[in-house]
Amino acid sequence: MRFTITDRRDRHMKIIAAGGAGFVGSNFIHYWRKHHPWDTLVCVDALKRRSNLRNLGDAFEAPDFAFIEADITDQATIESILKVEKPDVVINFASVGRNSGGVDACLDTNVTGTVRLLEACVNCGVPRYHQVSTADVYAAIALGDDHQIYETEAPKPDSVYAASKAAADNFVLAYGNHRAIAVTISRSTANYGPAQEPNALIPETIIHALHNQDIDAPGTGQNVRDWTFVDDHCRAIDRILFNGEPGEIYNVASGAEKSDLETVQALCDAFGKSAGQLDNAPAPGPKDKLFTVNADKIHDELNWTPRTSWSSGIQNTCDWYLHHMDWWDDQNSQK
Ligand SMILES: NC(=O)c1ccc[n+]([C@@H]2O[C@H](COP(=O)([O-])OP(=O)(O)OC[C@H]3O[C@@H](n4cnc5c(N)ncnc54)[C@H](O)[C@@H]3O)[C@@H](O)[C@H]2O)c1
Repeated sequence: MRFTITDRRDRHMKIIAAGGAGFVGSNFIHYWRKHHPWDTLVCVDALKRRSNLRNLGDAFEAPDFAFIEADITDQATIESILKVEKPDVVINFASVGRNSGGVDACLDTNVTGTVRLLEACVNCGVPRYHQVSTADVYAAIALGDDHQIYETEAPKPDSVYAASKAAADNFVLAYGNHRAIAVTISRSTANYGPAQEPNALIPETIIHALHNQDIDAPGTGQNVRDWTFVDDHCRAIDRILFNGEPGEIYNVASGAEKSDLETVQALCDAFGKSAGQLDNAPAPGPKDKLFTVNADKIHDELNWTPRTSWSSGIQNTCDWYLHHMDWWDDQNSQK
């Protein structure tokens, strides 16, 4: 089934963002309000962390924005929301991550929650669904190996989180194949930007720098990650919603491949601090990995390219944390 959102001039669109109070979801809500101000957004979130609502900031003042506290595993409640709201699109950002969930939490939200949300969408006639997945579903590449990870690569998850996201993706594709709903999936590399949980590498390093605490990279610091600025990830989802082919997966990567040491160094430089570990860094070893994917498909077919350079993304992120100390103090106090 084809479903393309074409003419923006004759109708406004209503989007439900499940998990929209989290890091990526709240940035998406701000992105969408800026770039598509005529549309209506409804954020549905179970508020797994109490201060998430603050991520939505001034969205609450907009007449075309609503927040509903609900859990995507509760299909009856989700269906009652969908019947009232009648969205054109549901985007699923709701997720329990690497650090915050055990096996049960990953199964509940990432797998069961995705299936319940899909089932509710089908039962309520929602025509379009997008799953925000992750590049973590693929295996990392050995450093120096030039293997390219395309969307056709079989997932090879190496954590419960990644396995639960890969399982959810299979359900999404199955619903797209056999039920009356057009689905797409995005798999982005690691994101950074405003309002990311404080225990992720970039916010944690920034917070340590601001508190004059020791700054170290994880492990040997030689793992290399592709970093996508969160706003670029949001724009990739925008492109997929309008021009993506139903049933397709789109990798998202910016090409900013940095070792963890380089990342820590960039943040130290931004704050004029030094990182003790950096002077005696070991050479990369056989266990060090590259975490990235090939994003030619979204580039060639949907004309998406990242707009935020590594240096401006880092500067933007440092500025945000510097000016939102109450936000991350609040988050840290809830650990
Ligand atoms: N953060 C990254 O670097 C990154 C990179 C690539 C892809 N992604 C994907 O983006 C999505 C969002 O990730 P994030 O980093 O913003 O996570 P996050 O933890 O910051 O946000 C997740 C949100 O989902 C909500 N939630 C959790 N369980 C729920 C449930 N059962 N019902 C309703 N809401 C629920 C939480 O309250 C939270 O607001 C995930 O699917 C993740 O795999 C993230």
